[in-house]
Amino acid sequence: MKLLVCGGAGFIGSNFVRIRLAQGDEITVLDKLTYAGRRENLQDLDVRLVVGGIEDPAAIADAIGGCDAIVNFAAETHVDRSITEPDAFVTTHAVGTYTLLEAARERSLRYVQVSTDEVYGSIESGSFTEQSPLQPSSPYSATKAGADLLVASYHHTYGLEALICRGSNNYGPYQYPEKLIPLMILNALHGDPLPVYGDGQQVRNWIFVEDFARGIGHVLEHGAPGETYNVGGPDEAVNLDVVKRIIALTGASDDLIEYVTDRPGHDRRYSLGSEKARALGWEAQVRFGEGLEKTVAWYRDNTAWWAPIRSGDYRAYYERQYGRALG
Ligand SMILES: NC(=O)c1ccc[n+]([C@@H]2O[C@H](COP(=O)([O-])OP(=O)(O)OC[C@H]3O[C@@H](n4cnc5c(N)ncnc54)[C@H](O)[C@@H]3O)[C@@H](O)[C@H]2O)c1
Repeated sequence: MKLLVCGGAGFIGSNFVRIRLAQGDEITVLDKLTYAGRRENLQDLDVRLVVGGIEDPAAIADAIGGCDAIVNFAAETHVDRSITEPDAFVTTHAVGTYTLLEAARERSLRYVQVSTDEVYGSIESGSFTEQSPLQPSSPYSATKAGADLLVASYHHTYGLEALICRGSNNYGPYQYPEKLIPLMILNALHGDPLPVYGDGQQVRNWIFVEDFARGIGHVLEHGAPGETYNVGGPDEAVNLDVVKRIIALTGASDDLIEYVTDRPGHDRRYSLGSEKARALGWEAQVRFGEGLEKTVAWYRDNTAWWAPIRSGDYRAYYERQYGRALG
């Protein structure tokens, strides 16, 4: 297939691109290269990169020629940033998704929107299905939910071959270190404090990034237009236990754990039921223990990838967020 992958220079997008190229796809990436999007994530890959925003029709027109389908990963993805600076979330998720949908509609292209379990909100027990109501609780998840509704409306109103794929918490290589797992790995490797929000008892449903990328590919190829598919990981874990496992894998000390003020409106538990994606023939292959070991090893072995981040603007972000400097 010839794919336009928007947001393909980010964490999940670049993993998706790597897997799909190996399967023989031809790929153009359209990416704004925000702080989270990096040329380095694609540097060993044979792709055309167009630098631009999905809210810019001219950038889309430059990138879209010859493509059979669009997969949209482009997003602002950090809940903490959505609380302090929501503007870019509205621009990219609302205006950006609209602009991209219009381009898909003009050309009758198949369209997959990459979305998140956070649109369902928090659940105490059991798991969300695709029929669960959307009850987002942060500017991040609310704007993602808005984008999903717009995508669904383009199928319903215009007959666009649009599908939605909602993932649970991803982890793995190439994830920007503001997110829980790479943050804890890099801090543990450096002997920096490990900032745990609140009581650390939040529960997340973890999926190894390659499993999610394969799930999105499955939905792209086999999903029914107009349908939404949950693609969740095989294991749940409490945040504090995740941190303790990382301590064990890096040989750091438990004394590095530091409890910090909880994120406002922090969701307690996410859980996705993925039976519908399984019925398409997809199955997660990587259990959390194995994936976490691989991820720690990748960060340990790829200093050249994270060193420029940890010594750049990320330092100022970290200081604002946690009220202390990185070591
Ligand atoms: N990380 C997770 O745990 C997770 C879980 C489920 C779903 N998702 C969804 O998967 C997608 C990718 O997430 P990620 O973790 O790889 O994010 P990321 O922050 O690593 O990457 C986002 C990418 O989008 C690009 N981008 C941002 N705004 C853009 C714009 N206006 N136009 C073009 N490009 C733009 C960035 O430069 C970056 O390359 C997002 O839609 C996210 O909501 C993420």
